[in-house]
Amino acid sequence: MSVYQNLIRPLLFRLPAEDASHLAALTLRLWPIWGALRAVNGFESSDLSTEIAGIPIGNPVGLAAGLDKDCEILPALSRLGFGYLTCGTVTLDPRPGNPQPRLIREQGRDALINSMGFPNKGLASAVEKIERDRHRCGDTPIVVSVSGTEVDDIVECHRKVEPLAHAVEINISSPNTKGLRIFHSPHVLDSLLGAIDAERSKKPLFVKIPPFPSEGEDAESHDSALSLVDVCLSNRVDALTVANTHPVNDARLKVGSGGSSGKPVYEPMLRMVSEVRQRVGDETCINASGGIFTAQDAWAAIEAGANTVQTLTGLVYRGPNVARDIAKGLAELVERRGIEGIAQLRYDGMIRL
Ligand SMILES: Cc1cc2nc3c(=O)[nH]c(=O)nc-3n(C[C@H](O)[C@H](O)[C@H](O)COP(=O)(O)O)c2cc1C
Repeated sequence: MSVYQNLIRPLLFRLPAEDASHLAALTLRLWPIWGALRAVNGFESSDLSTEIAGIPIGNPVGLAAGLDKDCEILPALSRLGFGYLTCGTVTLDPRPGNPQPRLIREQGRDALINSMGFPNKGLASAVEKIERDRHRCGDTPIVVSVSGTEVDDIVECHRKVEPLAHAVEINISSPNTKGLRIFHSPHVLDSLLGAIDAERSKKPLFVKIPPFPSEGEDAESHDSALSLVDVCLSNRVDALTVANTHPVNDARLKVGSGGSSGKPVYEPMLRMVSEVRQRVGDETCINASGGIFTAQDAWAAIEAGANTVQTLTGLVYRGPNVARDIAKGLAELVERRGIEGIAQLRYDGMIRL
């Protein structure tokens, strides 16, 4: 167990979850310190070089959207060993998000439940911060996540952030935002992606899709989730992030329902990655998001069909070294399995849990 897990996490976890995350973000703002730490503590291996939708990355471990909602701490995050960073989700206008409490830890399950509802300072503020900081992130690519409840708003967000980012991720899958579910209708998603496609540059476009409905729900809703994948493909989407948090009811949240993340969503995520890979073939990039905490978790997700993995709840439970630890473990696995590099690890149709 690390210093974070033994000493820092118990202190942080005494605070309400949202206060702890603000405190962690404040610490991260001292980014020159993190730069110095990386110099002593960093990890790089050419065995982990790969790409995300054509963008070269030093390792396949990305930061998932939702930690740096206002794109304010990118330089610090770029020193934590991630292969790429996803910031946002940013909306056109500032949003307060849902009333608190809206973030709960489930410590025994290595899980979080949140009903944040996109609190953020809006597009203009995010653009200013990315313009200020994007050259201070070394060679770590920046993906900006955008969303909204109107096609025109999302298109405007895409238009403004695309020139500044390496790629843009359209988030249609937060379970906590009223009105976002309209994009779960293939017809409405098609009009959104068609409008973006009509004016986008050559930079990659990602879509973050909702998880399959939980077991017990009908086959029809499973198929309709897959039909969103087809709509993405027909609109030249380069990467799918699979998937967002899983909708749950929870009376501890002020709004009574939210999204679950962390260990409980890992196995459903693996199955979904495998199914989506079968659906899309080899070309489309897949980013696995859900319960990635260790190198073994990441390896199994890549074997199930992912090109990259992302983590967020893993960072809360394992601390700021989580990306470096996963990358180190992946490099060891590459060597032990005798493959040339992580980019050679390919979908083999098997899910190993
Ligand atoms: C507190 C919190 C806030 C989140 N905010 C966003 C967000 O703004 N946009 C988004 O696309 N996903 C958001 N997510 C979902 C994560 O990006 C990720 O897809 C999900 O938590 C599953 O991965 P994990 O188990 O590694 O956390 C959020 C998750 C959490 C826990």
